[in-house]
Amino acid sequence: MPSFLQTTTRTWSEVEQMLASGDVQGKLAKDDLPTPALCVDLDALEGNIQKMASYAHEKGRALRPHGKSHKCSEIARLTLQAGAVGACSAKLSEAEAFAASGIESILVTTPMVGRHRIERAVRLAGRIADLILVLDHAENADDLNAAAAAAKIQLTVALDLNVTDRTGVAPGPDAVALAEHVARLPHLMLKGIQAYAGHSSHVIGFAERTASSHEAMAPAIATRRALEAKGIPCSWLSGASTGTYNIDGEMDGVTELQPGSYLFMDLDYDCIGSATGDRFDDFANSLTVLSTVYSMPGRDQAILDAGLKAFATDKPFPPVVKGLEGTSYSFAGDEHGRLDVRRASLPVALGDRLELVIPHCDPTVNLYDRIFATRGDQVEAVWRIDARGMSA
Ligand SMILES: Cc1ncc(COP(=O)(O)O)c(C=O)c1O
Repeated sequence: MPSFLQTTTRTWSEVEQMLASGDVQGKLAKDDLPTPALCVDLDALEGNIQKMASYAHEKGRALRPHGKSHKCSEIARLTLQAGAVGACSAKLSEAEAFAASGIESILVTTPMVGRHRIERAVRLAGRIADLILVLDHAENADDLNAAAAAAKIQLTVALDLNVTDRTGVAPGPDAVALAEHVARLPHLMLKGIQAYAGHSSHVIGFAERTASSHEAMAPAIATRRALEAKGIPCSWLSGASTGTYNIDGEMDGVTELQPGSYLFMDLDYDCIGSATGDRFDDFANSLTVLSTVYSMPGRDQAILDAGLKAFATDKPFPPVVKGLEGTSYSFAGDEHGRLDVRRASLPVALGDRLELVIPHCDPTVNLYDRIFATRGDQVEAVWRIDARGMSA
């Protein structure tokens, strides 16, 4: 009968030394890890990286995976090795972290407003080969242009189009007027358009998602054409999410894909449906939280050492234990989770180590300092989540 019990023969001092030195490959087992631990299954991660890279290549689209999901330069590097043209970051501080570890092409997908943010953006542009900033306002364009002029550099910018009721200039005449304004500013170089239809990414059902994304992206593609008709070069249109990669990736006019969650997947994405079935299984769940049963107050329930601080709690559904059918998890406080084991497919005992698939990957990653890269039962690497907490 399979057991989830910790079977390590190493002492904690040995493990501690390995974790401190980072020299773990071939030495450290998953069973040695202190819990709760954020783990990524390398076979699944590499498969996800390869699958998206092959898709983008086949469709002739550039791939720029969004680093807001992983916040980890090591993972960004793996995507670059597989053919990605660069990384996206949601915030400037994420971009600063990626740049500090050698990532040279970064699109920051939110606008740079505020004196200090602009100062930092200009400084970063001087440090890496290719920084792309987005803007949605003429006044902001003027501020960026003035800061770039003072630093005697040119900033590469793109219009952020509002296709999802968030940031962005309205597609059509407003966007064209803004592009004309930017084109007159000598220290800004207009690269093109960012159009991210976030509201389409989790629409359930492939046909419904396709309709939603087409409705959102058509005005962006039309805006690109309108700019080109006016002689404003616009050879770049970046968009798409994990849920719409193979929808936006088929659209004539979209040149670059910026999905992020596909690297890890989560329960939220699992249920949106794929082009061929009810489950969205184009990519595998690679991310889990490893947890220990540290109390068995009765036969019916097991208390885990992973609670509200171990998972993002923004979704209305709880984590799910991998490889153990018939259990249900509920939060039991900051540090505790309660597992109903009455109908568990296997016996659960004190000290068992269970792996849980997470509801929402991005904000869960942001709770951890490091991620354990595992293959089977072994830990191959410990990666620092170097952009963890970088939200400024
Ligand atoms: C601007 C932008 N692009 C791309 C993505 C990636 O989306 P996903 O993680 O659903 O693939 C996000 C996610 O929120 C985003 O905000």
